[in-house]
Amino acid sequence: MTAVHIESPNPLAELAPEDVRAHAAAALARARERTAALTDAVDDDDLTRQHSKLMSPLVWDLAHIGSQEEIWLVRDVGGREPLRPDIDDLYDAFQHPRADRPSLPLLGPAEARDYVGQVRAKALEALDRAPLEGRRLTASAFAFGMVAQHEQQHDETMLATHQLRKGEPVLHAPAPPPCRTAAAPAEVIVPAGPFVMGTSVEPWALDNERPAHEVHVDGFAIDTFPVTNGQYTAFLDSGGYTDRRWWSEAGWAYLKQHGIAAPRFWRREAGGWWRTRFGVYERVPADEPVVHVSFHEAEAYAAWAGKRLPTEAEWEKAARHDPVSGRSRRYPWGDADPTAEHANLGQRHLRPAAVGAYPRGASPLGVHQLIGDVWEWTSSDFAGYPGFTAFPYREYSEVFFGPEYKVLRGGSFGTDPVAIRGTFRNWDYPIRRQIFAGFRCARDLRPGEV
Ligand code: AVJ
Ligand code: FE
Repeated sequence: MTAVHIESPNPLAELAPEDVRAHAAAALARARERTAALTDAVDDDDLTRQHSKLMSPLVWDLAHIGSQEEIWLVRDVGGREPLRPDIDDLYDAFQHPRADRPSLPLLGPAEARDYVGQVRAKALEALDRAPLEGRRLTASAFAFGMVAQHEQQHDETMLATHQLRKGEPVLHAPAPPPCRTAAAPAEVIVPAGPFVMGTSVEPWALDNERPAHEVHVDGFAIDTFPVTNGQYTAFLDSGGYTDRRWWSEAGWAYLKQHGIAAPRFWRREAGGWWRTRFGVYERVPADEPVVHVSFHEAEAYAAWAGKRLPTEAEWEKAARHDPVSGRSRRYPWGDADPTAEHANLGQRHLRPAAVGAYPRGASPLGVHQLIGDVWEWTSSDFAGYPGFTAFPYREYSEVFFGPEYKVLRGGSFGTDPVAIRGTFRNWDYPIRRQIFAGFRCARDLRPGEV
């Protein structure tokens, strides 16, 4: 690999060990605060009920968070005896599909809260003692970062369960910032050439983000912003859901089978489109990124617009490549961790922000809102990078590699900063739309365009 195509350095490498420990402890504490808020917002009946066949009861997520933390931080890193070996199987996601989880003899809300508290106390003891060099699992406190990310991923899943839940609003947050970008072209051209995809140095990057490898990407154009509700409504209102031309075979079959005629949670009223959002019924805001669309709907919109979805490599190049230095950044705006000025993350707001709301989050080439707001569908299947090795367990990524899953990038308003990076990879079935997913379009360059 040539010297100009290097990655950003490991941000934890410069910290003293006590600061790495404090950083990990803060990530764990922030996750737990959010878990508590999401589970304390509803009563015990609500916690144990299944709000959708697609989701677990919230009380399952809660104890599963504790169970994973026990396995990795208390037993493995901490070397302590199991607290509750009897419940390992109940909270093993591979043993019981989501639809079956309500009928299991799960811990009740009080027991589950007590359990996660006990596990956390022991995990923090382990953090105090763990060597931060040598063993790969604890180098730069990786296992603690992994467990904090795991909890935040389930917090985002619990937020999606809240969105599926019927009833009055129980979650509240201020409105996101308005558009603060004066004028921007609709598309940005990303010139042909190599860039470094993935990472070998980011300390808390998960196995599927590794290793860093050079990828040649042909020149392409990508939308400056995610596709908005206003743009998506034009597709809908021009009969996009009844026109076979825009849909793949699988996409068309899916529309017919499920009677899908609009994004999830939308309803057509006399005066236009309305939606339900965390219990609030409201007019669909035209200037926000569309959310709750499947891969199939994203793909159909792109075809209608005369475009296509970006590949995963295109998305990451648009997000990380600095054409001046040739380096791949940690985030579009640089190497600094996200703040409220850069991106709509961390459930600070309960919705995507209007396009143009984060000018300081733009990439060097001028692509906006790649991080936060909505997960973005890509056209790529989920697969391991060249040289992939599963770590520390095959069931995080490797067992999902294959053509059934499509990759999503960038995180949503419901993703915590610890669980998103320029290299972070999410995946789901192309039919899924309860997740906070939208998209942006890309296209090949026309002859003469550079
Ligand atoms: C990476 C979001 C697809 O929630 O299924 C949680 C993350 N893995 N527990 C998921 C995960 C194990 C995963 N996603
Ligand atoms: Fe999990």
